[in-house]
Amino acid sequence: MADNPIYKLTYGLFVVTANENSKDNGCITNTVGQVTSEPNRVSLTVNKANLTHDMILSSGKFTASIISREADFELIKRFGFQSGRDADKFAGFADVKRVENGTLAVTKGTNSFISASVCQAIDLGTHTMFIADVGEMAMLGAARSADYAYYLENIKPKPKAVGTDEGTGQTIWRCTICGYEYVGEELPDDFICPLCKHPASDFEKVGGGKAPEAVAAGVTGEGKVIWRCTICGYEYEGDTLPDDYVCPICGVDALSFEKVSK
Ligand SMILES: Cc1cc2nc3c(=O)[nH]c(=O)nc-3n(C[C@H](O)[C@H](O)[C@H](O)COP(=O)(O)O)c2cc1C
Repeated sequence: MADNPIYKLTYGLFVVTANENSKDNGCITNTVGQVTSEPNRVSLTVNKANLTHDMILSSGKFTASIISREADFELIKRFGFQSGRDADKFAGFADVKRVENGTLAVTKGTNSFISASVCQAIDLGTHTMFIADVGEMAMLGAARSADYAYYLENIKPKPKAVGTDEGTGQTIWRCTICGYEYVGEELPDDFICPLCKHPASDFEKVGGGKAPEAVAAGVTGEGKVIWRCTICGYEYEGDTLPDDYVCPICGVDALSFEKVSK
């Protein structure tokens, strides 16, 4: 993380679920925290672009399942790398328990859940902060909670090692969603990212025949710099990050990006 006190704050990781008109959905957040103990209340901040945001705003209820160190990337991918506007995130997903407020708690890769009823919604511009009364809670396992740093170091897949072309002059294509790198002159039109399952259209050419050391240093063959979202790990490549840039994965602004020198 960059040398900035803001990045020294620690965050948990949660699957936040909602139910509205019999539809279940949920997203990954790192923004649940207790705000008062009497009454027992938590806060949750969600980007307005997320479907989960709209569902919580209209239903007034959510459940935060606390992600543990036993979680795999599949869980993060399912709830954090696609929107319920495009996919049914619970299709084929059996690791759930319907809780009293009508939402689904996630029971695998989590160690507990907290259900809550919204008592205040504070408009923060891009996000809404929900203040909510804690209701039903339960433990689901003994594994330690995963914090955001643990996710980046142990759960988020590392991009495939680059420079494997050993100077053969082949081109590298990088998945702009998860950072996976494909080595080859042409990327097949029907290529699907083996990590995040995004299509060939989400890959960008990051240079051909570049020195492997240049890639390892986080700089492309064209001398561009990588900027990493400190919230979700998304990487943007370019000499400068536009001031109005918004992370396509988690929706935070340019201030949440750090210049990476790997
Ligand atoms: C590690 C990680 C942390 C995230 N943290 C947040 C967050 O704190 N707040 C938020 O609104 N979105 C966060 N997101 C992004 C949402 O999970 C993501 O945009 C999701 O696809 C929204 O789904 P929905 O439209 O179905 O609600 C995070 C994503 C990841 C991968």
